[in-house]
Formats: sequence, C-alpha cells, structure tokens
Amino acid sequence: MTTLDSRPEALAEHLTARLETAFATHLERAQVWYPHEYVPWGEARDFAELPFEETQSRLSKEVRASVQLNLLTEDNLPGYHGAISRVMGYTDVWRTWLDRWTAEEGRHAIALRDYLTVTRSVDPAILEDERMLTMEGGFDSGDRDGLRVIAYVSMQELATRVAHRNTGKFSNDPGLDKLLARISTDENLHMVLYRDLFTAALEVDPTSAMSALLEEVVGFAMPGTGIPGFIRRAAVIARAGIYNLEVHRDQVLKPLLGYWQVFEREMPPSAEAVRDQLALVLAEIDNRVEKQQRRSA
Ligand SMILES: [Fe+2]
Ligand SMILES: [Fe+2]
Repeated sequence: MTTLDSRPEALAEHLTARLETAFATHLERAQVWYPHEYVPWGEARDFAELPFEETQSRLSKEVRASVQLNLLTEDNLPGYHGAISRVMGYTDVWRTWLDRWTAEEGRHAIALRDYLTVTRSVDPAILEDERMLTMEGGFDSGDRDGLRVIAYVSMQELATRVAHRNTGKFSNDPGLDKLLARISTDENLHMVLYRDLFTAALEVDPTSAMSALLEEVVGFAMPGTGIPGFIRRAAVIARAGIYNLEVHRDQVLKPLLGYWQVFEREMPPSAEAVRDQLALVLAEIDNRVEKQQRRSA
C-alpha cells in the first residue's frame, strides 16, 4: 500500500483487518439486482423516428439537474477507482473490495442512463457529450492520504445516498423514485464499510484520524466539480432543497459524527485539540445554515 505503508505498521494492519471483516459483511448484505428490471422499456421509441425535445421530459428542471449530476458522478468511477487504488494500494483485500465497489457503482450508471434515455427525461446527446467531457477530465484527489480518503468517502457515500434519495422523492416519478431508492440502498452499504474503516482509524490513531476528518469536513465537496456546469447545477439543486448545506449538516455530518462518537470518545490531548477545531468548524456551518434560512424565509 502506498500511503498507508508510510503510516505506522499497526495502523495499516488494523485497517486491513477491519476491511476484511467489513467486506465480508458487505457481501452478506448486498443484494443482486438488475438494471433492466427498473427500466420501462415498453415506453422506448426510436430517436431516429421521434427526435428528443425538452417538452418530452416529465422531470422538473431541478430534478433533471440533480439526476444528471448524479449520473455523471457515477460515470466517472474509473477516475475514483484510479485515485483510490493509488492511495490505498491495489493488493489483497483492498483490490478485491475496490473492484467490487467499482462494479456496483457501474451498475448505478447503467441503470440511470437507461432509465433517463428510455423515458426521454434528459437529452441523451447531452448526457453522452457530458460523460465524455467528465471522464476525459479524470479525477484528481489532490494530496489526500489514506485516512483522508477514508474520511472523505464515508461522507461522500452518505451524501450520494441522500442526494439520490431526495432526487427520487422530489421527482414525482414513481419509477425513478424506485430506482433511486434501490441505488441509495447500495450507497448506504458503501458508506457503512467506509465508516467502519474510519472507526478502526479512530481506535488505533485518533490524532491522525481526527486531523484527516477535520480537513475533509472543512473542504467537503461532492466529486463532481469537474463536471460541466457543476456550480450552476449545484446551486439549482441547493435552492430546491434536494441537497444543500442544511441537508449536508443534518443528514451527513451529524449522523456520521454521532456514530463515531467524536465528541464523546476518550482521546489523547493531541486529538482533543483537533476536536476543538472541528467544533469551531461545525459552529461556523451552523451560522451559514442560519443565514441561508433567513435569506430564503
Ligand atoms: Fe453509486
Ligand atoms: Fe457508492
């Protein structure tokens, strides 16, 4: 392992042992499902006979923005696969897990693209042009080390679960809602695995784990910043209440920090100092949420 090897051996061993257990649990819980069972193929029309027009879409512009962004994020899995394998290593159980995870995420992209194309919810030419642009842009995980990657993906998988779930609920499209609920269940299992790994890090090296968590809470952004029109779409999605800072705080940060018992756990003074900084960051997030609530009231 590249970066984890540069950490004390005990940490790398502890994380690998936890991944073995967590991956076994994942395989027990994960259900097999098939994209074609969630796509209403009977609605399909040949695009040569009936070209796409915006008016054919039954989704609002907010839901379209959200589902397109979610799909482009799923499309870019090879970028995340590469980034994670570079940091975590691509051997033993790390490799087996990463390949399985990538295959599951690939299913999400297949199912979503088929659904959106068959139901004419989004222009398929735009979907394809943007997939090319997004994947050609790759993914840069910056200078994140192994612990930061684990902290980040724990939050990101939960954020993705919430974003898919809320998009489905806002869609007024029972078929899309059902598919996104199915995908969210997978994202939840991914989150559970990474959350377990981060728990292991907290147990064996709380100061490094807390520092990694602090950096990722401060800098958190969904992995779509390279996607065309990301900022504009993210703003539309936030205004609609599908995913914004309040949702992020209440449905991602709070549940994870609570699960890890970050503010209740015994820690050495060096980790407590980082925890104090995290408390300040959370208070700042509270202020920003309050301001946004006042503005939209
Ligand atoms: Fe996914
Ligand atoms: Fe996932």
